[in-house]
Parts: sequence; C-alpha cells; structure tokens
Amino acid sequence: MSGLQQRLNTVIVVGTRPDFMKAAPIIERMKRFDDFIDPMLVHTGQHYDSNLSGLFFDELGLRKPDIYFGVGSGTHAEQTARILTEFEKSLIESKPHLVIVIGNTNSAVAAAMVAAKGKVLVAHVESGLRSFDTSQPEEINRLIIDKISDYHFVTECTGSHNLLNEGVDEESVFFVGNVLIDTLLNLNKIASARPLSRQFDLGDGKYGLLTLHKPENVDNPKALKNILAGVSGVTEKMKVIFPCHPRTRNNIDKFNLISYFGESGIRLVEPVGALDFLKLESKATMVFTDSGGIQEETTILNIPCLTLRKSTDRQVTLHEGTNILVGPYPERITAAAENILNGAVKTGSTPKYWDGKAAERIVDTVMNIRKSLFEPESVKEGTAKVRTVREALVAEK
Ligand code: UD1
Repeated sequence: MSGLQQRLNTVIVVGTRPDFMKAAPIIERMKRFDDFIDPMLVHTGQHYDSNLSGLFFDELGLRKPDIYFGVGSGTHAEQTARILTEFEKSLIESKPHLVIVIGNTNSAVAAAMVAAKGKVLVAHVESGLRSFDTSQPEEINRLIIDKISDYHFVTECTGSHNLLNEGVDEESVFFVGNVLIDTLLNLNKIASARPLSRQFDLGDGKYGLLTLHKPENVDNPKALKNILAGVSGVTEKMKVIFPCHPRTRNNIDKFNLISYFGESGIRLVEPVGALDFLKLESKATMVFTDSGGIQEETTILNIPCLTLRKSTDRQVTLHEGTNILVGPYPERITAAAENILNGAVKTGSTPKYWDGKAAERIVDTVMNIRKSLFEPESVKEGTAKVRTVREALVAEK
C-alpha cells in the first residue's frame, strides 16, 4: 500500500466486560486495513476491577486503550454525566469521522449522544435488540442509541425487524452477525486445551454455572432470594458454581442472603477471566444466567441455558438455541433444572452469521463508509459491496 490514502479516524468505545469481548475481533480485523482505518480505543473505566477489566485486556490480546477516563461507579446519572463530559473533551481533540459503540451500557449511550450532537457518524454494534421493558436501564440505552445512530450492525434477524418497525432507515441496517461469537470461537481454541482450574473443585461430575448481575434481579431482595432459592433446589444433585459480580456480592451481604452459599449450597467465587469462564461454561451441565451474552454463548456451545429474566432481548436463542426462559421464579427454576438433569435437554442450531466472521463484515462495511466519505466517485462500487451485506437482511424479511 502507498500509505497515501486518507484514513478513517475511528473511535471504538468500551467500558464494561462484554464490550472488551466484542471490541477485540473488530480491532484485530482493522489491523489489515491499517492504511485506510485509524482506530482509537477509548475505555471509559465503567468497569475497573482487574478481574472485570485488565484481565480481559490481557486474555483477549486487546491493546492498551489510547484513552482511559476512569469514570468508575455511581448512580446512572453520575456515571453517564462523567462519560458525557470526558468523551466530549476527547472528541473535540481527536475529531474522528466515526464513533463505534457496542451494546447497551451507560458508556455506549453517553458516547453515542456526544458523537451524534458533535455531528460525528455513529455506528452501533449489537443494534436492534429489544426486551420491550423500559424498566430495564439497558433497554432505555438501546432505544436512545439506535435512534441516533447512523449505522446499525445487527446480530440476529429480530434486530433488523425491530429497527424497521421503529422506522429506522433500511439503508442504515447491516445484518453482520454476532461479534461475541467471533471471540468465543477464537478463545475456545485456547480454552479447550486448558484443564478446568482446580480452584473450582468441581471434580468430574455434573455441575451448574450461575451468573447474575441485572438490577431487576440483584437490587431487589425478593427477586434475588427467589433466584437463589430456585437454584439451591438442585444443589443436592449437582454442584453449582457462581462467579459473582461485585454488584451482586454487595447485595448478598446487604440483604443477608449468605446462608444460600457454602460447601453444600451454591459455591460463591470471585469473577473469573474470559478463558476460565469459557472453560466453566463449555463443561457445565447447565447454565443459569441473566446475561444476554451468555444466552448467546451457550447456544453456540450447545449447553442448556436457563434464563433468569421475565423476557429476553436475545430472541434467536429461544427460537433456535438452547435457551429456556424461567424468570426469577423459584419453582420454575428448580423444575427446569431437574428436567435437564433427567435428560430433557433442548438442543439448538447455529443462528445465521454466528460464524466467526462478524468482525469481517463490520470492517468491510466500515471500509465502505470510508469510501463513501473520501472516494465518492467510487461509491457505486462501495454501495454494491454494502448491498451484499444488506441482501441478507432483505432475505430475512
Ligand atoms: C453494566 C451494564 C450492563 C452490562 C454489564 C456487564 C449499564 C447500565 N449496565 O452493568 O448492561 O450487562 O455492565 O457486566 O451500563 N463494580 C465494581 N467493580 C467494577 C465495576 C462495578 O465493584 O469494576 C460494582 C459497583 O458497586 C457498581 C456495580 O458493580 O456500582 C455496578 O456496576 P455498573 O458498571 O454500574 O453496572 P453493571 O451491573 O456492571
């Protein structure tokens, strides 16, 4: 390459554990287009503990962020306000052409708002997912991000349908697949060769894996108690290991629920890194979770997943995957887990474009965005390429 091309200054915003997982393959793929795309990695610091942040950067081979805000925890208003202020300052300085935000976090919504108001193009990775429940902060964030984004990168076909139903311009919607699955497939090559860490003391028997962090479940004493009671209903038959998010850990103490844990109950451990988690997940008899990403990962790993929410924004995992919605209801949780222990296992298939090539499709589209900005004379060719990706969306309708 001549090195004389105009590069597309692209800011990629991350803040939380799942963002790191999803940004990694996009940044890796962009390396191939170094003459055309200049990526800048901004970490808001929404997650800052080493086992929620630094460890993930190491294991994913993610390069150090170019900018770190260190916003930390706080109320939604406090946290979002800090990100808005810091991101505006950095945007004024870096003057990017494109900002890429990921998922549904406070980091993503704040960055998207600053970029859109600063007349910078915004692309949303994992666009169009909806739980249709605005009591969840993530749903509010998604609605805002999608409304103000210029490009919508969709993981599953319901995402496209939701966006079109909301009046989003079809030309801005790209069904690119699931970039989290790119990472899963990459990490699985390493994780599958590692033994299950002895620290978990799981032996060779059956075990369940529990994760829990959504506010509606863990900030509400009744819901948290109900879920722990439901999962405890099977601990005599199967060990259950629980790498516990700090938010949840604080509330277990606050609500006096520690009696659910111990040798004969649920085993509480610190949050684990991406590789240990994947190992635990891929060998589990079943997974109990309220995480969106884990509903997706278990579908690919073909591990039964019991989702501890009343609804899911990951519809494809219910229709095509291994996911079963049990909500925060103790009897339903115990009964569904017993069914699985008795052999009633829901098997699934691989959703479209969950094939490890989502980052490729995203970066191809970013290259076309660049072309339409800097080489409008060749836009015809660019549009044709963009259309190839878009055709998949049309075919899904
Ligand atoms: C956030 C996202 C959620 C995402 C999740 C991934 C929002 C509104 N929520 O939820 O969509 O699924 O990340 O994990 O953006 N804490 C620590 N150390 C840390 C980070 C957090 O101790 O490094 C504790 C603090 O007490 C904090 C609480 O966890 O108040 C919640 O953290 P926060 O980032 O606000 O939300 P999450 O629950 O992690």
